[in-house]
Amino acid sequence: ADPEPVQDFCVAAVTNGSADHPSYPGFPCKPASAVVSDDFFFAGLAKSGAAEAAESPFGSSVTPGNVAAFPGLNTLGVSINRVDLAPGGVNPLHSHPRAAELVHVVAGQMLVGFVSTAGTFYSKVVREGESFVIPRGLVHFQFNTGKEAARAVTVFNSQLPGVVLAAPSLFGADPEIPDAVLAKSFQVDGEIIKLLKSKFRN
Ligand code: GLV
Ligand code: MN
Repeated sequence: ADPEPVQDFCVAAVTNGSADHPSYPGFPCKPASAVVSDDFFFAGLAKSGAAEAAESPFGSSVTPGNVAAFPGLNTLGVSINRVDLAPGGVNPLHSHPRAAELVHVVAGQMLVGFVSTAGTFYSKVVREGESFVIPRGLVHFQFNTGKEAARAVTVFNSQLPGVVLAAPSLFGADPEIPDAVLAKSFQVDGEIIKLLKSKFRN
């Protein structure tokens, strides 16, 4: 989904681990003469997120491998994450505005699902060695249906897919969305909105 590159590579000169970028389609390039093999290498996904997943209230941990973490991806239109799920854990409902997502399960099993613009829910229990694809922009999740920790590698056709977390974007926005807007939108009373805000606003 990213623009086509106009040269072999454009290793980002500086990202400071941040998705804030000064120019479109990406970051300024480091001089080609300064580019080394390590610029095309990323070890960030070697580290297990299993302990973090076990401690998180959602039972999940996502380690991003987008251009902010891996500057060599700049202008290449691809990125990769690691998703660790404790038993019963969920990578909660979210969407990526700029990329389709290929979910490849490397350990355990998980229910992976998304909802189309027609409101149809598509899902599948995906096991080690199997893959499932999430179309661009659609709300999706992964939920560990096994007894053991589960792990997936997710691959995106964008160097910076972006993520919109469903619950935090509605109930944790800063400044907050007025209760009246949320109550009317969800057809519930204000107390329910206050309860949800208490979970997602800090
Ligand atoms: C999983 O859905 C991910 O975005 O890495
Ligand atoms: Mn995702």
